[in-house]
Amino acid sequence: MSATPTPYDAIGTPAIIGLVERFYDHMESAEPELARLHPPFDGTIPAAARERFALFLVGWLGGPQTYTEQHGHPRLRMRHATVPIGGQMRDAWLRCMAAAMDVDPTFTGPVRDFLDSRFAEVADFLRNREG
Ligand code: HEM
Repeated sequence: MSATPTPYDAIGTPAIIGLVERFYDHMESAEPELARLHPPFDGTIPAAARERFALFLVGWLGGPQTYTEQHGHPRLRMRHATVPIGGQMRDAWLRCMAAAMDVDPTFTGPVRDFLDSRFAEVADFLRNREG
């Protein structure tokens, strides 16, 4: 008997690492206002933050739970409480993720539909102000 397949089974770690690299590269080049909300607040996203986000996605999509083992429960609302997130930053974040997914055929079909709706839900849930 095999366990129910997860999105992680269809995607795998290398595609997630590539996704995260393109996501933050796109943020740095196309969404400078969003990039500057991230430490060190100069519009660049350091390797350590990229690694944490990739590890988080691996676990969140059903893969190894290394992020939670190292950093505890993600508590995304709490971890974003000091970040000013309104509708514009939510949409900018989603544009970066869409751009990062668009260029890898791993992120098509049912996997893409699933991710589009989950990312939109979570990004909206993280809004903590107007604008
Ligand atoms: C909606 C717009 C969003 C903004 C403006 C935003 C901004 C940020 C910022 C500034 C950090 C801190 C980075 C650091 O400490 O170096 C962060 C961390 C993080 N964000 Fe977001 N974020 C957004 C959406 C999301 C979404 C939708 C997810 C999940 C699907 C997410 C997951 C995370 C994770 C896992 C971390 C790392 C926490 C850690 O330090 O371990 N974020 N985000």
